[in-house]
Amino acid sequence: MARTTSSGLFWVFPLLMFEPFSFSSPDKPGQYAELIQQARALFDGEHDRIANAANLASLVYGALPDLNWAGFYFFDGTELVLGPFHGKPACVRIPLSRGVCGAAASQGRTQVVPDVHAFPGHIACDAASRSEIVVPLRHGGTLLGVWDVDSPVPGRFDEADRQGMEALCQAYLDSLASVA
Ligand code: SME
Repeated sequence: MARTTSSGLFWVFPLLMFEPFSFSSPDKPGQYAELIQQARALFDGEHDRIANAANLASLVYGALPDLNWAGFYFFDGTELVLGPFHGKPACVRIPLSRGVCGAAASQGRTQVVPDVHAFPGHIACDAASRSEIVVPLRHGGTLLGVWDVDSPVPGRFDEADRQGMEALCQAYLDSLASVA
């Protein structure tokens, strides 16, 4: 049994088939709006933070150009611990006092880093990374973790990416029923 939904997802019961993503909008704000629509469709009816994190990492990594890593670190009460991601294997634990991820988590602000080599304490998980954006995730007043995206292109992320990534993260946070 198969049907195509209005969101563009192609269902073959009981499996979900996801067609390769292509944007219809020419600009970043429009493309992020399309990604958010796709993310909300993927999250529909599902509240599991790992499942939704895995699908968001896959969606973004496959859809946006010039990325070499996209994924999550979750706060375990002491430090950030690697979660679902796409890209090369990465460092597993990051103290809040270290790296771009630690800065985003401890300051509660998105970090847009045009040149990772100029960021004090940057942690190089993939030597190819040149620029990075990290969004802190807060849920119900609690630090849940961070969303981290790397690029091999210097200056890959701008203000439109910051707004788009933060909106994507909000869609992810909205999908969670509770913090496990
Ligand atoms: N560069 C990050 C570490 C995580 S990897 O990029 C996946 C940082 O400095 O915190």
